[in-house]
Amino acid sequence: MITCRSAAEIERLAQVNGLVAQVLRELMGAVAVGVTTRQLDALAERRLREGRAEPAFKGYHGYPATICASVNEQVIHGIPNDRPLQEGDILSIDLGGKLEGYFGDSAVTVPVGRVSADADRLLTVTQAALERAIAVVRPGARVHDIGAAVQQHVEAHGYAVVREFVGHGIGTALHEEPQIPNYGTPGRGSRLAAGMVLAIEPMVNIGKAAVKVLSDGWTAVTKDGSLSAHFEHTVAVTETGCRILTLRDQVVTEAV
Ligand code: MF3
Ligand code: CO
Repeated sequence: MITCRSAAEIERLAQVNGLVAQVLRELMGAVAVGVTTRQLDALAERRLREGRAEPAFKGYHGYPATICASVNEQVIHGIPNDRPLQEGDILSIDLGGKLEGYFGDSAVTVPVGRVSADADRLLTVTQAALERAIAVVRPGARVHDIGAAVQQHVEAHGYAVVREFVGHGIGTALHEEPQIPNYGTPGRGSRLAAGMVLAIEPMVNIGKAAVKVLSDGWTAVTKDGSLSAHFEHTVAVTETGCRILTLRDQVVTEAV
C-alpha cells in the first residue's frame, strides 16, 4: 500500500526535506581538493542536529555514517573516510534526516576541482534524467513512467542505468512503498495520487550497468570501473503535478 499524506504531514515532510536540502547545499560548497569525506560527514551530522534532526542513515541496517560519500566508480553507499578528495574526482553525497518522525532524503554528485569532459557530461545527463523523471510525476501517472523517463534520457546519451538499486516512497520510514526502478515500461506499475511522497534517485554509469558491493558490505561500485553518478530528490505528488521538497535554490532569508 502506498500512503497518501495529509496536508499537515506534507508540511512536516517539507520541513525535514528542506533541512536536508540546506545541509546538502552547504556540503556541496565545502567540497574541495584535500577535504575528506569524513570531514563532510561530521559537518552534515552537526548541521542536522542543529536543526533538531537526526541522521537517518546512521544505524540503518548498521550503516556507520550520516552521509553516503561515493567517489568516481563508486555508485552509492560509499562510507566516509580519510582519503583527501583529489582534483578530477566526482563525489556523490547522499544525505538523509529524520525530524519528529518524518524523513528526508536527497543526493547530488559534484565535481572536485576541474573534472574531465566525460565526467562533466555524466553529471549533466544524470541530473537531467532526474528532472525528466520529476516532470512526469502527477496524479494518474504510473510508477514505471518515472523509470521509463530516466531510462530513455540516459540511454539516449549512451549511458547505462543501474538496476540493483531503486528509488522509494518516503514518509514516517526512510523506505516505504513503492519501489521506483530507474527503468521501465510506460503505463505500468501503481497509479500515483496526490499526497504520495517519493524519493526518485537515478544512478547512472558511463560504462556497463553491472555493479557489485565491496567487502565492506556497503560500497556499490561499477563492475567495469567506469564512473557513476547519482542524484536524488524527494517530491510530493500534488493535484496538478508535484512539489520538490528538497530544492536547494531557495533564498534563505536571515532571521531579523
Ligand atoms: N538514499 C539512499 C536510499 O534511500 C541512502 C540509503 S543509505 C543507508 O536508499 F545507509 F541508509 F542505507
Ligand atoms: Co533514497
